[in-house]
Amino acid sequence: MTELVRTREDLAKARAAMTGSLGVVMTMGALHAGHETLLRAAREQADHVLVTIFVNPLQFGPNEDFDRYPRTLAEDLAICRRAGADVVFAPSREEMYPEGQPRVRVDPGPLGEDLEGQSRPGFFHGVLTVVLKLLQLTRPDLTLFGEKDYQQLTLVRRMARDLDVPVRVVGVPTVREPDGLALSSRNRYLSPDERKAALSLSAALRAGAEAADRGHDAGEVLAGAHRAFGAGAPGARLDYLVLTDPDLEPGPVSGPARLLVAAWVGNTRLIDNAAIRLAPRS
Ligand code: PAF
Repeated sequence: MTELVRTREDLAKARAAMTGSLGVVMTMGALHAGHETLLRAAREQADHVLVTIFVNPLQFGPNEDFDRYPRTLAEDLAICRRAGADVVFAPSREEMYPEGQPRVRVDPGPLGEDLEGQSRPGFFHGVLTVVLKLLQLTRPDLTLFGEKDYQQLTLVRRMARDLDVPVRVVGVPTVREPDGLALSSRNRYLSPDERKAALSLSAALRAGAEAADRGHDAGEVLAGAHRAFGAGAPGARLDYLVLTDPDLEPGPVSGPARLLVAAWVGNTRLIDNAAIRLAPRS
């Protein structure tokens, strides 16, 4: 049985009743098969599974999709039940932020200003602030994040290390449609033509990974990825396509690396990434 709790008080009661280890999956709802994979991974690794569903206003810019972000609690609860979640915490805005906008926020450091942070100022301050609050409220042993939001996962790991948050942060591989599109709650905004254009992102990553497998260097990998992005159905506008080290640290890359892409398809901003292995520099 999955228990739905709406308040901190009920959450505290549900938490106190848990005797073994707890895995927490944080979401903004609009759950899909990617979230379900996170829940099932949590189920395998912990005695109890708690899902949070909260569309966090702090991480949306003034012109972003906070108002139209899909809110599908009934369907989300069905997925949580199917995946064996014990508790769903779905607080209101007032419950999460009883004093209004918090004046103190988590500073994500320089990585928070790069990539997603460059296009979405304040985004990672909002994400890390709500993640830290949810960690304090739920006190899990582990928390699981999808690799699809790779910069988010990297920053949550960094926050746990830098601020001594006693939780194990687990990354879970991206779930894709058969044609390569990474699952995302925002895919439901796409028209059929936009859906085709959105394949430019995964095509770029695939081309980059294949070039790396053939032994090409970082420059050639990026050039191949750019070509594949441009060769896709029209309609995707590239924001960034970068090759970095797996911890998103600045500097030259060799060996294990990460290729990250962000693009606009119509009014929808999509991101994706892939692990690649470059030949070590001699
Ligand atoms: O990835 C998300 O859905 C959100 O950024 C998160 C981690 C739930 C924080 O609001």
